[in-house]
This record gives sequence, C-alpha cells and structure tokens, in this order.
Amino acid sequence: MLALAGVHTYYGNIEALKGIDLEVKEGEIVALLGANGAGKTTALSSISGLVPPKRGRIRFRGEDITGRSPEAIVAEGIIQAPEGRRIFPDLTVMENLKMGAYLRRDKKGVEDDLEYVTSLFPILAKRAGQSGGTLSGGEQQMLAISRALMGRPKMLLLDEPSLGLAPLIIRNIFDIIRQINIEQGVAILLVEQNANLALRVAHRAYILTTGAITLSGVADDLLADEGVRKAYLGG
Ligand SMILES: Nc1ncnc2c1ncn2[C@@H]1O[C@H](COP(=O)(O)OP(=O)(O)OP(=O)(O)O)[C@@H](O)[C@H]1O
Ligand SMILES: [Mg+2]
Repeated sequence: MLALAGVHTYYGNIEALKGIDLEVKEGEIVALLGANGAGKTTALSSISGLVPPKRGRIRFRGEDITGRSPEAIVAEGIIQAPEGRRIFPDLTVMENLKMGAYLRRDKKGVEDDLEYVTSLFPILAKRAGQSGGTLSGGEQQMLAISRALMGRPKMLLLDEPSLGLAPLIIRNIFDIIRQINIEQGVAILLVEQNANLALRVAHRAYILTTGAITLSGVADDLLADEGVRKAYLGG
C-alpha cells in the first residue's frame, strides 16, 4: 500500500534518513521504532510531504507521491496525528474535530464519523464545547487521533502517541488504535520510542538507528528475540 524505496531526507547538509526502505501493507499496523534523533519523525514528514526526500521514491496505492504537496498527500488519504498533539488550543473540541473533516463534502458521513470517534473516546463528547487547550495531555492525544480520523484516512500516521502519558491512558489509547485498525481497516504507521508497547499492537516493525533501518520483522518474532530484547526492550 505504502512503500518507501531508498529514501534520503536532509535538513540542509544533515542527512537525517540515509536511504530507507519501508513498506506498509493494506490493513497492517507497522511500528517504526528508534531512539531520540533516529529519524522517526523525519520518516513521517517525508511521507506526508512536509520534508520531501532528496533521493528515493515513495509510492502509495500504486502511485508515485514523491514530491507532492502536503495537501495533495492528505487528499490521497494519508493523514497524520502529529507529535506533541498540535490540536488547536483556542478552538473547542467539536471545532477541532470538524477541522479534521475540512476537505469533505459528505455531511452525513461527517456526522456518522463524529459519532464514531466520540464512541471511541466518550470523554470528547463530554468536553465538546470546551477549548482544546484546556484538555489533559491524554485527552489532547485522543482528540489528535480523532481529528485525523475525521479526514477518513486510508493510512494513519501516528507520532509517539504514548509520549508523556500515564500507563493506564496509554493502554486505553493503544487498545483503540487496534480497534480503529480492525473496524475501519485503516493501515497505521506507528512511530514509537516505547518498543515494548508498540510491538504488542503492531503486526510488523522496523528499527531505525541514526537514519538507517537496522532491523525489521514480524512484531511477535522481534518480541521473542533475545538479542532484540537486550538491545531495545530493556532485557
Ligand atoms: N528541522 C530540522 N532541522 C535540522 N535538523 C533536524 C530538524 N528536524 C530534525 N533534525 C535532525 O534530524 C535527526 C532526526 O530527527 P527526528 O526528529 O526525525 O528524530 P526522531 O527519531 O523523531 O526523534 P525523537 O524520538 O526525539 O522524536 C536528528 O538528528 C535531528 O536533530
Ligand atoms: Mg520524533
């Protein structure tokens, strides 16, 4: 469905991605793991068109989308819930959700999806009239994921959804990530530093080390591998 081939991405002279190959198949959750500064966010920015690759190709559903504008890529159905939430703090929760559907003209579908996301995260219905900036960190993450869903993604890009959240909230959000994948058939590329957690929801995973993919495989195999456990999962 999504395929990166030999993607090199730079910030000025800094080569943040050194020729990465990565694939997400229809219906899959794929985890992209790695330490701080490994290039995880850069990989998402390369896909979403915010920081286009200098070399290499990105294909989505059979089309070459390399170098297209971020708007064109969103219109193809690749939608990101950004790192650090980035909801609109001065807009209400409801207004934030509707912003996620700004490209859509199917009113009924938008209404149905509002109902769907508030069934996933009932707290958002309770907070509908409150400004986004007053939500807790966990609630803002729920809003960011829901806002992305309001765009009816074919592929969802999630950048560290667990960042800074309490274990119970993280579990809730990860359960819902899996539920979205199953119920909506949305493919998900999940960037995480928390490898243990991500490997429990993902089907497959890639490990990124200073801009290069150093390991990839089926999530359960990686979880069971002693070398991987020692290097990435704290024993
Ligand atoms: N806008 C930028 N300008 C210059 N260098 C950047 C920029 N954004 C990222 N980098 C550099 O590119 C490398 C990869 O950064 P990136 O944000 O992709 O890492 P990451 O894996 O997402 O890390 P984290 O887990 O901390 O979010 C880092 O060395 C970073 O300093
Ligand atoms: Mg990052």
